[in-house]
Amino acid sequence: MCGIVGYIGNLQAASVLLNGLKRLEYRGYDSAGISLLEYGKFENLKKVGKVSVLESMFDEHEFNSTLGIAHTRWATHGEPNDVNAHPHQDNSGKISLVHNGIIENYSSLKAQLMKSGYNFLSETDSEVLAVFIGSLYEKFGDFEKAVRLALMEVRGTFGITVLCSDDPDCLIAARRGSPLIFGVGDGEYIVASDASAIIQYTRSVVYLNDNEMAVIRRNGYTTKTIQNEEIIKQVNQIEFELESIEKGGFEHFMLKEIFEQAKTVKDSMRGRLLPDEGKVRLGGLLPVMEQLRNAKRIIITACGTSWHSALVGEYIIESLAQIPVEVEYASEFRYRNPVILPNDLVIAISQSGETADTLAAIREASQKGATVIGIVNVVGSTIARETQAGIYLHAGPEIGVASTKAFTSQIVVLSLIGIMLGRMRNLSATDGKSLVRELMSLPEKIDRMLENTSSILQIAESYKKNKNFLYLGRGYNFPAALEGALKLKEISYIHAEGYPAAEMKHGPIALIDENMPVVFIATKDEIYEKVISNIEEVSARRGKIIAIATEGDESIKKWAKHVIYIPETIPMFIPILAAIPMQLLAYHIAVKLGRDVDKPRNLAKSVTVE
Ligand code: G6P
Repeated sequence: MCGIVGYIGNLQAASVLLNGLKRLEYRGYDSAGISLLEYGKFENLKKVGKVSVLESMFDEHEFNSTLGIAHTRWATHGEPNDVNAHPHQDNSGKISLVHNGIIENYSSLKAQLMKSGYNFLSETDSEVLAVFIGSLYEKFGDFEKAVRLALMEVRGTFGITVLCSDDPDCLIAARRGSPLIFGVGDGEYIVASDASAIIQYTRSVVYLNDNEMAVIRRNGYTTKTIQNEEIIKQVNQIEFELESIEKGGFEHFMLKEIFEQAKTVKDSMRGRLLPDEGKVRLGGLLPVMEQLRNAKRIIITACGTSWHSALVGEYIIESLAQIPVEVEYASEFRYRNPVILPNDLVIAISQSGETADTLAAIREASQKGATVIGIVNVVGSTIARETQAGIYLHAGPEIGVASTKAFTSQIVVLSLIGIMLGRMRNLSATDGKSLVRELMSLPEKIDRMLENTSSILQIAESYKKNKNFLYLGRGYNFPAALEGALKLKEISYIHAEGYPAAEMKHGPIALIDENMPVVFIATKDEIYEKVISNIEEVSARRGKIIAIATEGDESIKKWAKHVIYIPETIPMFIPILAAIPMQLLAYHIAVKLGRDVDKPRNLAKSVTVE
């Protein structure tokens, strides 16, 4: 949600910043802008639309500046237009700022500043911060002090990068609640919302924590708290490779990420399975082993796709470990004074590790004394750092806004937790061994499934014009159905609902006629017969059935107009396999409708505002 880049060094800043914006565009893409400090004054370009629109403006300009900031926006205050786009300047034109987050007390600050004679061009909270910093600079003549004093005054969240035209060798970055890191190069520094904008230039990065700022000059930097206490920060190394954030020959990141899943599922379990003992080893959980042993209840909290994997996790953990599990939308958990008992274990799931709602939920849980662990993909992200222990997905960077490979890896990791907790309790070594064996067989099954996906293309062609879809499943396949529907909604803008298959008769059945495609996850398991009854109910009302079925199940063709086969596995792992054809179905429908698959409208990859 909003991408920030800042550069200070010896290269031409414009091209570094544009490259960075392109890498960060998945964070927000309703408008983009850039400020370059050249010959003592700012050159500002900003434009509604994607980064490519901003880039085309560069054809008419040549910039030699080596200091600049840039932003790609996901609107919170003020509609997406040129004026509301960042960077924002103060009234004197000496301060230029990009901001991610929400300044909660912006209207009172704005009123105060207006009373003192300051003007505003945009409707944004961010411009208020720029003008506020400018007013303090006017008063004290000290850029750093002006930024610090302003940040001490504002409520809400920010990741900011700010420049002052009187000081052409200084860039200030600060954060509270919105991610911000900076890359440390040789005489050059790049500030960004995440590592993908930095890796092309350097692997060495410093992660800022809340209420910290960096004052960066070409010959070095200092880090301090907003209260002005100096702090020494560790320099970390980025682990992923540049190729992992490039499309690698695929038309879209989403398609690449779908096709990566045999590998990413494998990477999520690599080094963690002990097949001979029927156990798993999760090094990241070592600090909380005692609490895991004593856990009496688990609360899993997450948003979006991660919330769906949490639901699958609930079924898996309850079945394997017989510990009660509750799944909570992070946004709800935070604001309803939840009951946290001694021996409660809270698990936060987040691909990005930066989702504001999930972060707020873990802070709430920690404050109430819970043991909090994270299942996170992005290494070094805020949730990863703020949880007591955790397990990384190791799925590699996920750039497509609609989550795909993170979902399957999250279920793998939840299964590993289920096995671990189960083996600490009553799960037998024999059952542990067969679960581990089954997990190990999944990558090959995914590979096989992805070898031939032509039937999905045909189904996409047949139903691309439909306005509504239903996705149904029972047991483990119910949350998988929710995820299937979410994928279609997110990237094709077709209305789709996921439902427990049997619950359909209590409402959604009224929607079924010959215009309603119904995706059934109807795999061979202990409730297969029951699902077939639900299929018959839909078929009797002339709904168009698309079945995701187990290889070899010929009889399902009696009811289903289309069948997508997936390899056989045990019921709890079916969502891992079933997710993939549903991702592809959503993908192909969206492509056929001409949607921007990697950057669907109104969405952002990591939602860093509550
Ligand atoms: C956004 C994304 C979703 C994602 C959700 C949770 O809404 O568009 O794809 O599932 O955030 O993100 P997280 O990074 O916490 O898993």
